[in-house]
Amino acid sequence: MKFEDLNEIKKKNISFQKKLKNQKNNFILSIKDDCKTKLENITEYIACDGYFALAKALLTMNRQQVVDEIIKSDLRGRGGAGFPTGKKWELCKNQESEKKYVICNCDEGDPGAFMDRTIAEDYPHAILEAMAIAGYAIGADEGIIYVRAEYPRAVERLNQAIVDASKLGLIGNNIFETKFCFNVSLKLGAGAFVCGEETALIKSCEGQRGEPKLKPPYPAERGYKDKPTLINNIETLANIPKIILNGSDWFCSLGEENSKGTKVFALSGKVKNAGLYELPIGATIKQLVYECGGGVLNDKQLKAVQMGGPSGGCIPTKFCDTKIDYESLKQLGAMMGSGGVIVMDEDTCMVDISKFFLEFSVDESCGKCTPCRIGNKRLHEIIQKICEGLGTLSDLNELENLANYIKDNSLCGLGQASPNPVLSTLKYFKEEYLEHILEKRCRAGVCKKLTKYNIMHDKCVACSLCFKICPVDAIYLDDDGKYTIDQNKCIRCGKCKASCRFGAIERK
Ligand SMILES: Cc1cc2nc3c(=O)[nH]c(=O)nc-3n(C[C@H](O)[C@H](O)[C@H](O)COP(=O)(O)O)c2cc1C
Repeated sequence: MKFEDLNEIKKKNISFQKKLKNQKNNFILSIKDDCKTKLENITEYIACDGYFALAKALLTMNRQQVVDEIIKSDLRGRGGAGFPTGKKWELCKNQESEKKYVICNCDEGDPGAFMDRTIAEDYPHAILEAMAIAGYAIGADEGIIYVRAEYPRAVERLNQAIVDASKLGLIGNNIFETKFCFNVSLKLGAGAFVCGEETALIKSCEGQRGEPKLKPPYPAERGYKDKPTLINNIETLANIPKIILNGSDWFCSLGEENSKGTKVFALSGKVKNAGLYELPIGATIKQLVYECGGGVLNDKQLKAVQMGGPSGGCIPTKFCDTKIDYESLKQLGAMMGSGGVIVMDEDTCMVDISKFFLEFSVDESCGKCTPCRIGNKRLHEIIQKICEGLGTLSDLNELENLANYIKDNSLCGLGQASPNPVLSTLKYFKEEYLEHILEKRCRAGVCKKLTKYNIMHDKCVACSLCFKICPVDAIYLDDDGKYTIDQNKCIRCGKCKASCRFGAIERK
């Protein structure tokens, strides 16, 4: 396709642009807005300036200028670590090799996160365009999108986008009649969290077991098939066309001093409006939870937010005004991660929650290195003991020492970050650990072995609601005509307490 042909398609379909009038133009993806136009359609994408950034790069910029524009934009990787994207591109460009690859990481293993899926489903052409720009900049002619097979619609739309873009000659050979050729294929992942880690992902692409390996060498030096490989997260890539088209100054006008642009967050947990929200980096936790999410479900008290997915940290309410950027979150013992945010209310037991996240890490550990494989299992055993009321004070020291050991000695980011929920809850919610150990009490009533329900006879009117709702027939009418709970039968589900209209059931 010639550039004039691209322009012609845009002119013919300019009406699509009108549908975008409600979008916040300064946002990268505008996911938040009620946008009826879905850019998975190639004509609509072109009508909205799609593939014009690729044309600009190929026809008006040399490779170094493209890299420089990305460096100037200060864009940082949205896959978790926040590594400067331009630096990575430059490193890869400077490698001497006859073959290089661009890989788009759309593995997205964080439970509850669906930013990357949405981007793949709604903006597949933006990803193809970004990958082609990256390929041009670093000198690669082949791109691979690694997407998990559990995302069938994303797979379908990416496949369709590849077919449509190839038909128009927007990927393939001699794009815009230049010498630049770039082909893209899909590689489906089988859903292992560790395969999102770049070295494990590359192994998985090669058909090997998805296990991480020591860095350096970094993928930019020696990656897929031992060739220099640029691997970027899909959201990072989604920013590229707009940066090239609008310029790095425009991009730098959004966000914070050290972190430019916007970030898409997947808000879930005890929040009224769970969903995806795109905010300029530097917005506060409060803005995200209250302005975007509408506040805590059932107007309960906010207790903490877990940021950074299963290996992120729990941030207590007192830090609600913290700006969401890479450095501020790290200082609090959490991390930006890929953008998963889980809201927790007053009924959350912080000991139980750290056990929950550890379970995920234990399940997802690839088992290659001992600190992660065995260390996390041991951490989990200790927390389990505490949740059952069998913990001792010395367990707290062991928890902290072991967590730090795993952090410092694991092979990859999974192990290195897996103790974060334990360390952050120990730091901010130590009193709950102490209550479990010393008072054998779980204030949230979540740890079943430490929870007991009791019917207060002076308040009970024998209405029988609790008796009827108990799923295990643990409630009986005693000789005084009052209901009583058989503690041996009770499974501590709390249904009786929730059903009682007279406040006659207490949780101890
Ligand atoms: C256990 C683990 C899982 C990861 N999962 C993902 C993922 O699902 N998607 C992603 O883009 N990056 C993931 N990463 C980060 C990648 O290793 C890598 O840093 C990223 O793809 C680089 O792209 P970026 O610079 O654009 O962020 C993961 C890292 C670790 C340690």
